[in-house]
Amino acid sequence: MSETKNYKEALQHPIFNTITQAAASLTLDCYVIGGFVRDHILQRGTAKDIDIVAIGSGIELAKEVSKLLPNNPKVQVFKTYGTAMLRTDDIEVEFVGARKESYSENSRNPTVENGSLQDDQNRRDFTINALAINLASKNFGDLLDPFEGIDDLKSKIIRTPLDPDITYSDDPLRMMRAIRFATQLNFKIEEKSLKAITKNKDRIKIITKERIVDELHKIMSSNTPSVGFKLLEKTELLDYILPELIALKGIDEIEGQRHKDNFYHTLEVVDNISENTDDLWLRWAALLHDIGKAPTKKFSKKAGWTFHGHEFVGSKMVFKLFKRLKMPLNEKMKFVQKMVLMSSRPIVIATDVTDSAVRRLVFDAGDYIEELMTLCEADITTKNPKKFKKYHNNFKIVRQKMIEVEERDHVRNFQPPITGEEIMKAFKIKPSREIGIIKEAIKEAILEGVIPNEHDAAHKFMLQKGKELGLIIESNKDTK
Ligand code: CTP
Repeated sequence: MSETKNYKEALQHPIFNTITQAAASLTLDCYVIGGFVRDHILQRGTAKDIDIVAIGSGIELAKEVSKLLPNNPKVQVFKTYGTAMLRTDDIEVEFVGARKESYSENSRNPTVENGSLQDDQNRRDFTINALAINLASKNFGDLLDPFEGIDDLKSKIIRTPLDPDITYSDDPLRMMRAIRFATQLNFKIEEKSLKAITKNKDRIKIITKERIVDELHKIMSSNTPSVGFKLLEKTELLDYILPELIALKGIDEIEGQRHKDNFYHTLEVVDNISENTDDLWLRWAALLHDIGKAPTKKFSKKAGWTFHGHEFVGSKMVFKLFKRLKMPLNEKMKFVQKMVLMSSRPIVIATDVTDSAVRRLVFDAGDYIEELMTLCEADITTKNPKKFKKYHNNFKIVRQKMIEVEERDHVRNFQPPITGEEIMKAFKIKPSREIGIIKEAIKEAILEGVIPNEHDAAHKFMLQKGKELGLIIESNKDTK
């Protein structure tokens, strides 16, 4: 056991004194435990979630705390779990009675019995999350660290208080949590623990998709998401969660021709993009940008390895994947699909940057051109410094051209310079398919650079196009 340390300085928020008072009037002991303590010691800023464990009824303690607070905040009680929660100022405090738990095979919801602090610490996920600070006035601030959690924080180790086989089997979500913490905190997962995760990997099936995705989002939001994905791959959890990524693993060789390992390439792209954006969905786009490569992979003597149409196939796969993982099938998904679909476009034009190709790119990407360029720049993972420089330079040229073209032609969020009504008036016609044909022809002419994106030029073009279609110009019309 390590010596008793005092962490009074962690308890500066006035809520702790209120809890101490409430506990005294109920004559029970209580502790702050879990993430708050961990993050304080790691100096990860002040946590907004505080978990309190009471040796007795957590619900009673919560009610007593509310009575002592000036605005008597509402206590939300979760009877099934024996927990209660209240919000005050900017923080959320959760109260639970110390418990002993036993878990069943098919659910992560345990049967609960009252227990001691030690029982409660035993049932926690990791030693670094089992650290408790005493809130009793007599021992205010004393740390209770039965599993050397402090040492694990110092040596950056994720370790379970009990045999990892028990901890993970009890609650398989912890397998994801272990990997998430390792990624967020840049910690190592103890070897024994990693083995236990691999052994228990199939139990992830009893965890809801929403919870799995929550953890994936946290991994994705970390500085170096690849750490988490490599661990998910190593423990084989990824086979169940994102088999589309596993399908990208490996390098094939035929007649001396090899393609790159698209799994590790993808992880590099995700790490690269994470240096330049916090946008979770753009990071997801990076993770999924190549998933169409597995089903489209072909080898021919003439062309070598090809992945024709992988962007289109990939964008279709995004929908299925989001649906399977119960992710939102809304504009976020559409954004990811769009990024995957367009992921090669800037690369294709980078070698031959013509005005019309850039105009089309800006037109098709619409509001997301900046995100698309960020994705493509992150996609440069070559280890050849000359090529690396060349590719980045090419994108610089594309970006410059984008500015020029946009200043001149305004094709981003394109508004047709000629309305359908104007066409109807010019040729004295009713709504008909010719109007669509003419509008499309005007748009194409602008994108191709045949005419500038201006009303007068477009009007002239419209008259000419109408003539070709056999329409008669309204004789009184001012044709400019
Ligand atoms: N806990 C656990 N097993 C879980 C979830 C949580 O043992 N599957 C325990 C841990 O002691 C954890 C505490 O409950 O510290 C609070 O959980 P939670 O608020 O979900 O996580 P935090 O550790 O606070 O971290 P974060 O806020 O980053 O998720």
